Amino acid sequence: MAIDKKMEQAFNEQINKEYYSEYLYMLMKAHFAEMNLNGFVNWMNVQMQEEKAHAEGMYDYVLRRGGHIELYAIDKPELKGSTPVEIFRQILEHEEYVTSRINHVMDVADEVKDRAALSFLNWYIKEQVEEEENVGGVLATLELIGEDKQALLSLDKELAQRIFNQPVIE
Ligand code: FEO
Repeated sequence: MAIDKKMEQAFNEQINKEYYSEYLYMLMKAHFAEMNLNGFVNWMNVQMQEEKAHAEGMYDYVLRRGGHIELYAIDKPELKGSTPVEIFRQILEHEEYVTSRINHVMDVADEVKDRAALSFLNWYIKEQVEEEENVGGVLATLELIGEDKQALLSLDKELAQRIFNQPVIE
């Protein structure tokens, strides 16, 4: 069954949000590079790859369903702070927003009774729980660290260990 036009539009809008997320993390990566926090740079690099995979998962899905891809302009990202803790507060806020948008795409799937899309979107719902948990964890550590530079450098070392695993989204 061909994809409903309203469903198709919700996916195309979400593809744009995922690319915006990649763009936002690209900006944050540059910011951390300027601060010489290379573990944070690595964390952002992995995050960027994840966002690209999220966008591509939906892009492929729309095409598989015989839909049409519309690529909207990507908004200019802005940093809302400069310290690591401020940046991670912004990330958590952003990921909570992305979760609300995924919920919206789910609501559209519900409305047009697209069971295949609902099943596909389950992966994204679970992914958002992980994203918020992961970001919330780093943020909690940063809040504990406060002004302790030594502790910040040890967190930086830990974040350098993060690796990207290409997700299977289907
Ligand atoms: Fe694609 Fe970070 O959510």
